[in-house]
Amino acid sequence: MNSAIILAAGKGSRMKAELNKQYLVLKDKPIIAHTITVFENCPLIDEIILVINPEEEEICKKRILDRFKYKKITKLIGGGAERQRSVHNGLNVVDPRSQIVLVHDGARPLVTSKIIERCVKGAQAFGAVSAGVPIKETIKIMTKDRFVQYTPKREDVWITQTPQAFQLEIIKKAHDFAILHEILGTDDAMLVEHMGEKVRMVEGDYENIKITTPEDLIAAEAILGYKRRL
Ligand code: CTP
Ligand code: MG
Repeated sequence: MNSAIILAAGKGSRMKAELNKQYLVLKDKPIIAHTITVFENCPLIDEIILVINPEEEEICKKRILDRFKYKKITKLIGGGAERQRSVHNGLNVVDPRSQIVLVHDGARPLVTSKIIERCVKGAQAFGAVSAGVPIKETIKIMTKDRFVQYTPKREDVWITQTPQAFQLEIIKKAHDFAILHEILGTDDAMLVEHMGEKVRMVEGDYENIKITTPEDLIAAEAILGYKRRL
């Protein structure tokens, strides 16, 4: 079986909205409902662990769980102050029979079943994978005082997305390693990299954007509208 940890326990501070961005409405439903729906409808996913801010339990129940009645959400749990802590809390309650665990940002509602499938198959074959896309622009690695240190070759640079998928033992080991060595990562693949183990990139999608700032909402609405016309 395969489990998905969906993260919705952040503050959404860069969105500068009254409400945590997860609950903002995109077209017909809240962002987080779009995200959960994709996992709910993906045959490769058996359980969904939803990680929320405990102070938002009421709003999550009222606006999401009572309204959409998802069948695959087995656990609703509280997150931590950092993303890594939220993932760790999710890992603690993953069904021990699970082979593959996917970690996904609730704020990426445009994920698709195809991307999830590539992640699951990639993790089965390689142990640890991340969805990603090749960068379109040229990247500069900078010094603190804003001078260019060097320019990596464009074909070597990819943007990391989620889902990231792992064999259960690998992701558990990586989180334990991070705690022991006081490593705080911005994604989970990074923790596996710190252990010296390989992470493979699988094809994500340029449309699989993370809703972070207000203009991302406009982009997501446009992508959704365009998808519906196809
Ligand atoms: N997240 C989480 N727990 C945290 C921090 C983040 O579950 N302590 C989740 C967010 O809810 C989001 C995902 O991780 O779905 C990616 O994080 P980000 O886009 O940075 O969201 P926020 O942390 O909520 O936004 P901001 O950084 O602007 O406050
Ligand atoms: Mg954040």
